Amino acid sequence: MDLSGKVAVVTGSGRGLGLAYARALAAAGASVVVNDVDAQAAEAAVKQITEDGGRAVAEVVAVGTGEAADALVNRAVNEFGRLDVMVTNAGVLRDRVLWKMSDDDFDTVQHVHLRGTFTCARAAAIRMREQGEGGRIIVAGSPAGQRGNFGQTNYAAAKAGIAAMVRTWAMELAKAGITANTVVPNAATEMTKTMPLFAPYIERYEKDGTPFPDSLRKGVAFGTAEDCAGLVVFLASDAAKDVTGQCVGIGGDKLSLWSHPQEISAAYTDGGWSADAIAAVWPTSVGRLPETYGIPAPQL
Ligand SMILES: NC(=O)c1ccc[n+]([C@@H]2O[C@H](COP(=O)([O-])OP(=O)(O)OC[C@H]3O[C@@H](n4cnc5c(N)ncnc54)[C@H](O)[C@@H]3O)[C@@H](O)[C@H]2O)c1
Repeated sequence: MDLSGKVAVVTGSGRGLGLAYARALAAAGASVVVNDVDAQAAEAAVKQITEDGGRAVAEVVAVGTGEAADALVNRAVNEFGRLDVMVTNAGVLRDRVLWKMSDDDFDTVQHVHLRGTFTCARAAAIRMREQGEGGRIIVAGSPAGQRGNFGQTNYAAAKAGIAAMVRTWAMELAKAGITANTVVPNAATEMTKTMPLFAPYIERYEKDGTPFPDSLRKGVAFGTAEDCAGLVVFLASDAAKDVTGQCVGIGGDKLSLWSHPQEISAAYTDGGWSADAIAAVWPTSVGRLPETYGIPAPQL
């Protein structure tokens, strides 16, 4: 996969998945603007990429505002002359059950994930349309956004919103040759290392490189951040020029395509549905096989 001559921005790429994406894009030949709120992490990422022979600069700014998004696009253009790939990956968690979630918990997560994705994609789309040579918008979704997840009202809302925005952008940007896709990753990072099920495996992996077992890599599609990076390079490449509007799952040894929400059953009655009429047919008709929800508990 050759991304020589292409320029990418990766938000939240000081560590975790973003770092793996930035390194893989640079290894494929792209010049990368590394972004993070954590200046030390961003600088370390740039050092790592340049030591590996890649080209990267750090732009330390908190994504979420239009100004931050403009700063990232401007940095790409000023430093490397153009922008081809925008990867919106920066994220935070503020998990609480609904009745304990504060306005601030909710707004913080929307600001970084939903607004951060919107503002960065908008700034990228403006620049890419001006360039007139197409482009790639690659955003971070989550199983929580696809299915809902206990304690994640704010995060599930943001991630579902991100997937919905991408379907919209795929339509709006098609004429300009700009694709928009959602990556739904699953990997050992700061964000996931405290999950009790994964913690002992991550500890061993970090201590002496003990690989994750098949039960994790295949069974629950859980592996390293590097396992997810090939998908981002693919989506950034010419090979994926016709892939757009998709939600693609990646983790451990598994690559998958998520379905989009769609009607799965319907019934009709002349003159429309009263509450009584709905109640009468619900158990045997439209409501006969209700949808499941939530991320299935991993079985190891
Ligand atoms: N790790 C997983 O299994 C998993 C699963 C589903 C979705 N995701 C998504 O993937 C993305 C990356 O997750 P991760 O696991 O690597 O997380 P992480 O916590 O390891 O890394 C996130 C990075 O984003 C940075 N960041 C936070 N707020 C920022 C802001 N406003 N501006 C710029 N940078 C900011 C952090 O400093 C950090 O370096 C997130 O959007 C996350 O929701 C991760």
